[in-house]
Amino acid sequence: MSMKDRFLGKDFLTLMDFSPLEITYMLDVAQQLKYKRMMKEPHDYLAGRTIAMIFEKNSTRTRFSFQAGIAHLGAQSFYATPDTMQLARGEPIKDTARILDRYCDALVIRTYGQEIVDEYAKYMKNPVINALTDLVHPCQGLADMLTIREHKGKIKGLKLAYVGDPWNVCHSLMTCSSLLGMDCYIALPKGWAPNPNITKFAEEHASIGKTQMVVTDDLEEALKGADVVYANTFHSMGHKDIEQRKVAFAKYQINDETIKFAKPDSIFMHCLPGYRGEEMTDSVIEGPHSVVFDEGENRMHTEKAVLALTVA
Ligand code: CP
Ligand code: NVA
Repeated sequence: MSMKDRFLGKDFLTLMDFSPLEITYMLDVAQQLKYKRMMKEPHDYLAGRTIAMIFEKNSTRTRFSFQAGIAHLGAQSFYATPDTMQLARGEPIKDTARILDRYCDALVIRTYGQEIVDEYAKYMKNPVINALTDLVHPCQGLADMLTIREHKGKIKGLKLAYVGDPWNVCHSLMTCSSLLGMDCYIALPKGWAPNPNITKFAEEHASIGKTQMVVTDDLEEALKGADVVYANTFHSMGHKDIEQRKVAFAKYQINDETIKFAKPDSIFMHCLPGYRGEEMTDSVIEGPHSVVFDEGENRMHTEKAVLALTVA
């Protein structure tokens, strides 16, 4: 099967559904689209298409990067929150999905449970793109891999250290690292752990690629010799125990002292939004290691690649 046929019409629900070769191919397409955008070369491959966007949680990057990218590709997007739709008055997802499928060529959806995106995918023939669930954030994972590849020239053989909530972004980084041959260390207070199914997937694939997948409460162990230092909020959207989390995670901050455990040429990444004084200091996010705004930009290029490849 050709690469093009592998993607056409396919859902983008989690990076666990893609092979290392397919992820690398998406990164290559994103790189080409980034170049075209930079050179102002037209790339309206989706002219005349329509893309529905349903966001049940807040968003700055994902919403705007998709809407801008959809416009660059020559398509139109329609944005709604579930509270303005008949969903809020009890219409089932399976009816909503089949109706949207008749109007639109893809659905981009941000919501809570992974089972919700799975249900849309079940009832839609057109691609469903996961714009963040509690479980995973595949759009972020893909953009992160492009950013690492651009700044480090490779992904395989590197070490990534993560601090923050063991939640969607953490899970997508574990997935990508294990598939693409990067050591992945997650630093967490005792008693906290990533999702067991994701951990199982990541451990199995790390073992195939002979890389490390480690969850540790020792921040120094995680950061030691890291090429990529990744921070994320301690309190993801939907959590109510914000103050308890700030206390529990307080020791896991990336600051001018802790970043010294990593390699001198390490890059600092963050999916954003970030909370200065919590998971990282202002000096780190604004400092010489930080590539967070390149990372944010890459959200758009990688999402455009996903759309260009999957939308018929
Ligand atoms: N990183 C990310 O997904 O940002 P938004 O929540 O602003 O979309
Ligand atoms: N883990 C964060 C990511 C935000 C992009 C959250 O779910 O709130």
